[in-house]
Amino acid sequence: MDTPFNPSELIKRAVSNVTCSVLFGHRNEYEDNSFGNILHLTDVNFKLTCGFWGEVYNTLPFLRCLPLPFQKIIKNKKVILAFLNKEIKEHRESWTPLEPRDYIDYYFDELEKRKNDGSSFNEESLRDSLLDLLVAGTDTTATALQWALLIMVTYPDVQAKCYSELCLMLDSKADELCYEDRSKLPYIQAVQHEVLRFKVVIPLAIHSVNQEVKFLGYTIPKDTRVMVNIESALHDESQWKHPHEFNPSNFLNDKGEFLKPEAFITFGAGLRVCLGENLAQMELFLFFVSLLKNFEFIWPESSTAPDLTSMFGATSTPRPFEVKLRKRLT
Ligand code: HEM
Repeated sequence: MDTPFNPSELIKRAVSNVTCSVLFGHRNEYEDNSFGNILHLTDVNFKLTCGFWGEVYNTLPFLRCLPLPFQKIIKNKKVILAFLNKEIKEHRESWTPLEPRDYIDYYFDELEKRKNDGSSFNEESLRDSLLDLLVAGTDTTATALQWALLIMVTYPDVQAKCYSELCLMLDSKADELCYEDRSKLPYIQAVQHEVLRFKVVIPLAIHSVNQEVKFLGYTIPKDTRVMVNIESALHDESQWKHPHEFNPSNFLNDKGEFLKPEAFITFGAGLRVCLGENLAQMELFLFFVSLLKNFEFIWPESSTAPDLTSMFGATSTPRPFEVKLRKRLT
């Protein structure tokens, strides 16, 4: 435990297991290299699609048949879809109507219910939604957890304060920690939200307006692509007590109670708000407090400070880093 290690892969596997339990009704062992490969391919494809070659593919369709790097996206996608098809097939074979075990079974029930009303529910869109949820649900939450750990080693005083609050609560509690406990942990809740505000996982959201909109004296014509700058709202000087520094008081009132300002739009806002927000908040809270309860996180190098600059992409991730763990003597 004294050896510094990069926690990113373990975090990704743990978070993906939550997504897999919801979607497929089972988790995957960390040693399962075939699922590890699927996660790796979704990661590579996400990066490639959001990068230069993804843009070329989308904007210059006549180049699509050439052996350019975007062929890798197509090749990887075939492997990922084969994995999802196998899950769907296995579920179909063991499905009992109206006894859903997971998302796929719920979808089958819905297909059955709507089979005569011309709905858009079909097995292809089931497979596409599985892929969307696997990608949207894994990388984002895993990135937020990595930021939380990196910030804890950067601000050991904040980590110590979280641990004290947790210990105080655990002293008066006999059973296991659960999500409902968050109401008794205002400082930890403030830290969790401040991590999501300070290091914005998805800095930009892309929308398209389906009718002409008048906004702040501007007219946005129908079908215009609009980039919503989430990061700017989260660092807006008129909205936050400490817009540019990591400071949990952004989410605490004078009495030390947790409050969530309206400008907290890490998960977007309105009709297209992130549909995984509740699941993500639950995961972040439970992973964070469980880790905190068992380990102290330590920055391994005395000569350098942690690097909090982000690697910009569709998700804004920390640069690769290592931490050291010290087991708590509880
Ligand atoms: C820390 C974790 C997460 C963050 C920061 C995050 C953030 C976001 C943001 C900013 C959007 C775009 C909202 C907009 O367009 O205005 C979004 C959309 C979405 N998210 Fe998340 N998300 C997280 C976790 C999850 C999880 C766990 C899931 C599912 C398991 C998920 C599923 C989705 C889906 C399906 C959409 C598209 C919704 C739509 O277009 O209607 N997200 N998320």
